[in-house]
Amino acid sequence: MGKKIQAVKGMNDLLPVEQKDFKLTSSFWQAFEDLIGSWMHRFGYQQIRTPLVEQTGLFVRSIGEETDVVGKEMYTFSDSNDSLSLTLRPEGTASCLRAVVEHNLLYNSPQKLWYMGPMFRRERPQKGRYRQFHQVGVEALGFEGPDIDVEMIVMTAALWKDLGILEHVTLELNSLGNREERAAHRQALVEYLIGHEAALDEDSKRRLHTNPLRVLDTKNPDLQQICNNAPRLIDYLGEASLQHYSQLKTMLDGLGIEYVENPRLVRGLDYYNMTVFEWTTDKLGAQATVCGGGRYDGLIEELGGKPAPSIGFAMGVERLLLLVQEYGSLSCQSAPDVYAMHQGEGASLQVMKYAQALREAGFSVLQHSGSQSLKAQMKKADGSRARFALIVAQDELDSGTVTLKDMQGSLGQTTLGASELLNTLQEWNSK
Ligand code: HAM
Repeated sequence: MGKKIQAVKGMNDLLPVEQKDFKLTSSFWQAFEDLIGSWMHRFGYQQIRTPLVEQTGLFVRSIGEETDVVGKEMYTFSDSNDSLSLTLRPEGTASCLRAVVEHNLLYNSPQKLWYMGPMFRRERPQKGRYRQFHQVGVEALGFEGPDIDVEMIVMTAALWKDLGILEHVTLELNSLGNREERAAHRQALVEYLIGHEAALDEDSKRRLHTNPLRVLDTKNPDLQQICNNAPRLIDYLGEASLQHYSQLKTMLDGLGIEYVENPRLVRGLDYYNMTVFEWTTDKLGAQATVCGGGRYDGLIEELGGKPAPSIGFAMGVERLLLLVQEYGSLSCQSAPDVYAMHQGEGASLQVMKYAQALREAGFSVLQHSGSQSLKAQMKKADGSRARFALIVAQDELDSGTVTLKDMQGSLGQTTLGASELLNTLQEWNSK
């Protein structure tokens, strides 16, 4: 027997059953995907699907060389044929924008797009943090806001409501201003942090020169005082940025959407400006952010397109579903309606015909495969959690009848003419 090969660390199989250390099942996931499709349709967004692999330069240019994602977490390899450097996508925004620019989608009108799929980051795996994880992302391209900023938040809040988790998440908001405002703040911040350099930890000393805003993100309790007293970006915002931010907040107030202003919210990717937001929860331990996004007004131009102010967000599907599973509600259909059993020569073929007719009428039918005893088949029917069992044995075959059994309720068992099967099943199903 060959040696077993295991999945790559931090990359999960999604199975029909719960695993010890990964409780999400494929039917729960499927129910979520179905909901996402209708949720996006409700808001009039269109789906885009891009390749899982892109040229490395796309992510370096958009996400930023100094970010953790680009600096430490990307799966990069060279394509042996033409020595091109390729990377498994660590997020969806860059790929989406690359496609939009490449196919000139913004030529006539702005675009409201969404995507869903696997992303790859070589992070240290733990509950809610994986090396292959999944995002649902939304990008609204060519809109100045702040009304579209509000739309992003309204959309996410509507989804949390559908999933029954609205009371378990908090909306955090901040504005990063424009490039010049950030540069002025950065300079003041660096000067301030240099004044406190001796007290900083190694990570912060490194970030001080590469990405000083991220120093404020530190979890080190000894640095909280220094961070609290650091120059605040909000004090460097000009009139237009402040106005955008305050209009956004006024609209959220008007809609009754609660938020917490977090002046330290900077996000981990370099392309953001103005509005940034995150939905966080205190129910998932360290991996608290279930969804994050913001404006990236300069990115399309950076990637070779005409300037188009834009905003988007992405949610981590694993994190979100772990939260929904424990605290929310999402009904999924994993059991078939009918388990179809057969015994005796010719019964299998006859059952196939009945099963097909029931499927055409909208029922899901799991047909027993193989030729076990009826007792063994009934055990399988039980295990499948089907609501009804359909039985065709020699007696039924000879008399042109079928036996129907209610496996979950109190309707019992009856034998009826084959032509009455569909009607009876519909009637039983509606009880
Ligand atoms: P992000 O904050 O890097 O933003 O990721 C979005 C979400 O993906 C996170 O809030 C988290 O829920 C989930 N996530 C990230 N890394 C992992 C991981 N290793 N394991 C599990 N879940 C993870 C972006 O990716 C931006 N592209 C969002 C965006 C779209 N901004 C504008 N448009």
